Amino acid sequence: MTDLALVNCRQLVTVAGPRLGIVENGAMLVREGRIERVGARAEIEPLIGPQCEVVDAGGRVAMPGFVDAHTHVVFAGHRAAEFEQRCAGASYQEIAAAGGGIRATVRATRAATADELIEAARTRLEWMLRAGTTTAEVKSGYGLSLDDELKMLRVIRRLNEAGPLRLAPTFLGAHEVPDEYRNRRGEYLDLIVNEMLPRVAAGNLAEYCDAFCEEGVFTLAETRRVFEAARTRGLGLRLHADQLSNSGGARLAAELRATTADHLEQTDAAGIAALAEAGVQPVLLPGSVFALGLQRYPAARAMIDAGLAVVLATDFNPGSSPTPSMPLILFLACTQMKMTPAEAIAAATINAAHSLGRGSSVGSLEPGKLADFVIHDCADYREVVYWVGAPTVADVWIGGRNLRIPKS
Ligand code: NIG
Ligand code: FE
Repeated sequence: MTDLALVNCRQLVTVAGPRLGIVENGAMLVREGRIERVGARAEIEPLIGPQCEVVDAGGRVAMPGFVDAHTHVVFAGHRAAEFEQRCAGASYQEIAAAGGGIRATVRATRAATADELIEAARTRLEWMLRAGTTTAEVKSGYGLSLDDELKMLRVIRRLNEAGPLRLAPTFLGAHEVPDEYRNRRGEYLDLIVNEMLPRVAAGNLAEYCDAFCEEGVFTLAETRRVFEAARTRGLGLRLHADQLSNSGGARLAAELRATTADHLEQTDAAGIAALAEAGVQPVLLPGSVFALGLQRYPAARAMIDAGLAVVLATDFNPGSSPTPSMPLILFLACTQMKMTPAEAIAAATINAAHSLGRGSSVGSLEPGKLADFVIHDCADYREVVYWVGAPTVADVWIGGRNLRIPKS
């Protein structure tokens, strides 16, 4: 029996089919947390039984919850002082070279208990939910010791089990070389390959492995070593590639048949061709370009022209992209990267779901999928992108359960 009916959607944006599969005057039936049927009001309303709870969207827009496929939402503390230094002209790399940046957050995260990390992350996940996100990938990478990386991954597991957001865990032991290994980086790579990866895999603590392949961080050869070991352990691959320099990260991701290559601000035409040839999905993170005050955004149009299923994500982290907001990211994708609002919404839902191996369960509103959907205070889907900074999210359901977003 159907237990929930969503009716009176001015636009039900299913993201199934061409032009976002928009159903004008749409309605949807949900049974036991899954979508049973989607269609026009006249077709759905006669099927609503007497026991069914009816949610009236009030002539607004309903669409799938956002799938944020690249976040670093678990960490301790903040880096607002570095933000102020950057406002005064310091660069991200200068701050990192002086011992700040990722290593500053590593010190704070190591000092925090699992419970403290959970509490801090809960607040941020709540911010994400209020911005319409229902599924998120979450990386480790601020522990950088065996125990602290395992601590982070167990925190992600607990947060996922507690809900309401659905989380996909990624092991990012190769995020930075920690202070105590600064002069013996080969030994840190040994630790990742010989101790961390086996424990992560044995504990089933991550679905993917990531690395920060960048000048001054991990080289192509070091990244390759970590990724080959990760693949042997059954993990999928996602790579921080070509963010600050064109270091060949996209080509390496293509060669290793990674699932995604993320950032790609500096990737050239050859790199894009390699991704297309290998079917590696680009995950674009314009929030980090914007927040670092940089000018060069990834070449989204060239990637779309190459036939790539582009993904947009927040990169939510305390340094380069301190935002939980997918609508802000979509706005930047449209204004700075010249994506259309429809392309941006697809990139933030169905394409992102595919990149996380969840394309058959989330990312669109189709029969059989989980009932993860959002009502926005808008009558046209383009408004979700265009009212920059506006809290358009009125209500969120995950698995057919209403999360009751308080009115702001
Ligand atoms: O994706 N690039 C590396 N990692 C993050 C930044 C993490 C941090 O600054 O704490 C990123 O931009
Ligand atoms: Fe990142």
